[in-house]
Amino acid sequence: MATKDHVAGYTKYFGNRFANLSPEATTEEEIKDVYKEWASKFDEENSNARIVCHKPQAECLDFAIKKYLDKPKEEIKIIDCGAGTGWAGVELNKLGYTNLCALDISQEMLDEAKKKKIYQKFICAPLNDQQSPEVKTGEYDAMICIGTLASAHVKPAALVEMIRMIRTGGLVSFNIRYGELEIYQPKMEELEKARSWEKVSKDTVPQFDVDDMPPTSTFFVYKVLKC
Ligand SMILES: C[S@@+](CC[C@H](N)C(=O)[O-])C[C@H]1O[C@@H](n2cnc3c(N)ncnc32)[C@H](O)[C@@H]1O
Repeated sequence: MATKDHVAGYTKYFGNRFANLSPEATTEEEIKDVYKEWASKFDEENSNARIVCHKPQAECLDFAIKKYLDKPKEEIKIIDCGAGTGWAGVELNKLGYTNLCALDISQEMLDEAKKKKIYQKFICAPLNDQQSPEVKTGEYDAMICIGTLASAHVKPAALVEMIRMIRTGGLVSFNIRYGELEIYQPKMEELEKARSWEKVSKDTVPQFDVDDMPPTSTFFVYKVLKC
């Protein structure tokens, strides 16, 4: 999970819990174990690493929602995929969004998110190339997904399932970590060529405000053309 240029920083702030993760071999059970152990310390350790990405990324999605979706904010149904302890939900809520669902593979991370009293619904399920029975096709107006499209976490094939969850004309937004764009880019482009979605914006946003961690990540917003 640590990007190759920032291994020392990840180890300093987050310990060795990612040392054995590999994009090819890590299973969903192993990811669950990592986050089960991390859940109660996740907020404190990320605060120590001065993570700053959630506000600008929520603002990018807010900008696109105002431009493309013709509904009052409180009616916009947003699913936060890989919601973790709920940092994205907190920022979206500050912007006026109240119809929020948190999906995550880790029940322990969702239990932490519940304490923030931001989300209406919680789904403990993996994001992968299978359809999640808990989410109807086109059920949501928009998706945010932060820190979760990462090697060993979610594979590029899951982008198809992310699109399925969002209604036609709705928005899918996510960040890709520093140094990991090449993993997801081919699938993103394949889906663009297939007219499954079209790119609305691509922004470089601040990620961590310390010298030894990735300074930026890339945040994308796509409009769903069919699902
Ligand atoms: C780095 S954390 C980011 C959490 C949150 N989005 C944030 O920005 O603080 C990654 C989250 O993705 C979840 N996750 C990892 N792999 C997943 C998968 N295949 N499906 C669903 N959630 C996953 C983890 O449990 C964890 O909560």
